[in-house]
Amino acid sequence: FLLLASQRHSPLLSNMGLSVLAYKATAFFIPRVGAAFIRRGFAGKDMNKIEKRVIPETMGAVSALVYFMCMILFIPILFYKYLVPERSRDQQDDQLNVLNDGYASVAKTQFPHDQLGAYLSAVISILSISLLGIFDDLFDIRWRHKFFLPAIAAIPLLVVYYVDYGVTYVSVPTLLRPFLKRTVVDLGFLYYIYMAAVAIFCPNSINIIAGVNGVEAGQSFVIGLVVLCNDLISVFHQSNTEAMRAHLLSIYLVLPLIGVTAGLLEYNWWPSRVFVGDTFCYFAGMVLAVVGILGHFSKTLMLFFIPQIFNFILSVPQLFGFVECPRHRLPRLNVKTGLLENSYTEFTEGIPLPKKTLLTIRVFEALYLIRVDWDQKTKKPIRCTNFTIINFVLYHFGPMREDRLTLCIMGIQLVVGIFGLVIRHGIAPLVYPQ
Ligand code: UD1
Ligand code: MG
Repeated sequence: FLLLASQRHSPLLSNMGLSVLAYKATAFFIPRVGAAFIRRGFAGKDMNKIEKRVIPETMGAVSALVYFMCMILFIPILFYKYLVPERSRDQQDDQLNVLNDGYASVAKTQFPHDQLGAYLSAVISILSISLLGIFDDLFDIRWRHKFFLPAIAAIPLLVVYYVDYGVTYVSVPTLLRPFLKRTVVDLGFLYYIYMAAVAIFCPNSINIIAGVNGVEAGQSFVIGLVVLCNDLISVFHQSNTEAMRAHLLSIYLVLPLIGVTAGLLEYNWWPSRVFVGDTFCYFAGMVLAVVGILGHFSKTLMLFFIPQIFNFILSVPQLFGFVECPRHRLPRLNVKTGLLENSYTEFTEGIPLPKKTLLTIRVFEALYLIRVDWDQKTKKPIRCTNFTIINFVLYHFGPMREDRLTLCIMGIQLVVGIFGLVIRHGIAPLVYPQ
């Protein structure tokens, strides 16, 4: 790949080659560093197994490290044609040395500093959030302390967006145009708040669809593939070079993510030999947020995150203290059947529940989002299933083996992704004609 790519001077081919290498390198290093990670305390108990083995955690750090190596190696490849101008590549004459200085100054004036700026801002944002993930794995930071930090990590991206692109308006659908009497609505500064919110949401939302072998890496892998499809469709259908360049940049960032995630998934798949850690969830979530922002498709990205949005809305009562939130909301293993079942939040007998708790569980039960066990005599709730998409799936489809549950979540993610692609490329052009 790399040979072919260098002969053709194709950054895309090189990026594909690097992504395959990234997959291989991740799969090579993970089994070799596991013991060292356990010695340093990066380890976790696999709670949904009978013997509850302790296995290495924070393996997302390996994925992130390999990813950064790729990103850095890719810089000279991406800008090769500016670093080595056409004539000096083809001509092997004596004048070359004399002319080299001249070429350097030509390269300097033509060099797309804006593209390098965008690329480096992506690397800085992803790097800083991966650092937060490592600290979280080390010290278990409370979620209210770490929740807003991704917005700070996104500042370089937002600055680049402002300088390079600066589009803050949204199109008004055809049906609403006669009422609003305009074709676009400018959101101005609010659009930057929205993008910061995307950067906060993506890493955190992946981290709370977790606790089942392979589910964190599995959902990221599927979203990565869907984003790649969206970029490819956009690149082939775009006549606008600006938009094409934005989608190409997104491809360069997402392909290596798919590579390192596949390498990690190999060892994180049921029965897991390693855990991904918060590092991976933050890292992968941030890469996806970054490609959405720099690729100028952050609204389409939210269509791909519908399962995470659903899980977040479902989690609100527990995240905001309306209903007690246990440290772990992952499903529970039934040792007799070997299948995963719902996990519950138990209500202590004799202690009256606040009105807001009672109202919440009644509403969520009526909407078939949770199951509640009621005491037939006192008519008080005994326990309710935890408010997560994983428990929701188990409630509706019944107990299942751990790998099937992960496949189920990945399947939902894929169907939603295809739905998002159809909305964006099939329906949106009809509803928002240019
Ligand atoms: C998030 C979830 C929590 C869930 C946890 C599982 C919220 C608000 N928080 O917390 O409910 O229980 O993720 O990761 O929704 N583990 C397994 N099997 C797996 C993956 C993880 O048993 O396949 C266990 C291991 O003991 C591992 C631990 O989960 O050490 C990791 O939990 P951590 O990532 O620290 O939890 P949070 O992200 O804080
Ligand atoms: Mg976690």
